[in-house]
Amino acid sequence: MSEHRPTRDQELKARARRVIPGGMWGHLDVKRQPPGYPQYFERARGCRMWDVDGREYIDFMCSWGPIILGHHDAEVDAAVRAQAEAGDCLNGPSARLVELAELVVELVPHADWAMFSKNGTDATTVCVTIARAATKRRKVLAARRAYHGAAPWCTPSLIGVTAEDRAHIVHFDYNDPESLRQAAAEAKDDLAAILVSAFRHDLGRDHELPTRDFAAAARDICDRTGAALIVDDVRAGFRLHMGGSWELVGVRPDLAAWSKAIANGHALAAVTGSDRFREAASSVFTTGSFWCASVPMAAAIATLTKLRDIDGVAHMHAMGQRLRDGLATQAKTHGIGLRQSGPPQMPLVLFEDDADLAKGTLFCQEALRRGVFLHQNHTMFLSVAHTAADIDQALEATDAALKTVVERFGAA
Ligand SMILES: Cc1ncc(COP(=O)(O)O)c(C=O)c1O
Repeated sequence: MSEHRPTRDQELKARARRVIPGGMWGHLDVKRQPPGYPQYFERARGCRMWDVDGREYIDFMCSWGPIILGHHDAEVDAAVRAQAEAGDCLNGPSARLVELAELVVELVPHADWAMFSKNGTDATTVCVTIARAATKRRKVLAARRAYHGAAPWCTPSLIGVTAEDRAHIVHFDYNDPESLRQAAAEAKDDLAAILVSAFRHDLGRDHELPTRDFAAAARDICDRTGAALIVDDVRAGFRLHMGGSWELVGVRPDLAAWSKAIANGHALAAVTGSDRFREAASSVFTTGSFWCASVPMAAAIATLTKLRDIDGVAHMHAMGQRLRDGLATQAKTHGIGLRQSGPPQMPLVLFEDDADLAKGTLFCQEALRRGVFLHQNHTMFLSVAHTAADIDQALEATDAALKTVVERFGAA
């Protein structure tokens, strides 16, 4: 009875349940995605990915952000091979550290210096630590529901977290200057930093670009109080603008956190900052066993150089817009309400009247069956490897998927 034989994905999940708590942890736990999504993958190239059962997908998650040039980009692969041959984890950094810091400082207008680590959480945590060291104050303002990582001071789950871990975090509403001013007033003369995402990309909620008023208010409060303005560019960095996402609203932060796309899938994060925070940055003790590994730094140099030289941001924007326009036309044709938000290169697609995500879930399942990997309520990602032909092929699948949603739920 071959149709009852477990798939390789099912086999691996069963084995994992015995040796991995809950079978999987964190945001990559496939239980957070619609039934039928694979947990395990075998390989990837360009904008295509294959799961362990050999199913091929046009990928709109890009490994949840890190893949920006496409999998196995030839230039990045060549840089990685050469560096791996020379040495990766050494007694100290290689010259790649200095070369990469120079490149980042050249690309990012607010940056007078750069430091490197591994994950986005490292980078946001180091930014907060530097801000507190520089100001000798404690309070950090952060937007309600914004994601800044999985350390106790910022993780969205309070399980295993103490009130003391969060004691000095004060919340405001993103894009609401008045609530930001109120939070700053609450912090009184203990305000160390305002921490903001590049844009509002909370899970399951329409994405919003920062308004100029909001960005200017954040800058103004920091200028008046001496607090640090920190932009968390971990998710959006190098997809919206090579100089940092808030270049689009004309506001420069004092410190910024980067990771995800900086090295096209290799483990690396960065903190950048202005001269005012240089001394504090050199005073804090921050490190990690793998933070100075040279292969990811070589990958980052190749990634950022290529993105700059080919204007990768413009390409991703164009491909994202093609997808968005196509979906909008299909929604109109099928008579179903779709809300598309976020910048085109980082789309979110939600359905009207879909509080329980039933429509979004079916839409994603139907697209997946047709070889298109989407997410029902998280930011998605375009890469430089997506071509117009890939987008058009994906749109054929979304058209059929939308038709199924209308058949099941009716037009709305
Ligand atoms: C805006 C933002 N900040 C911080 C993080 C944490 O990054 P990491 O998962 O690499 O620790 C993420 C991860 O998704 C993120 O999107």
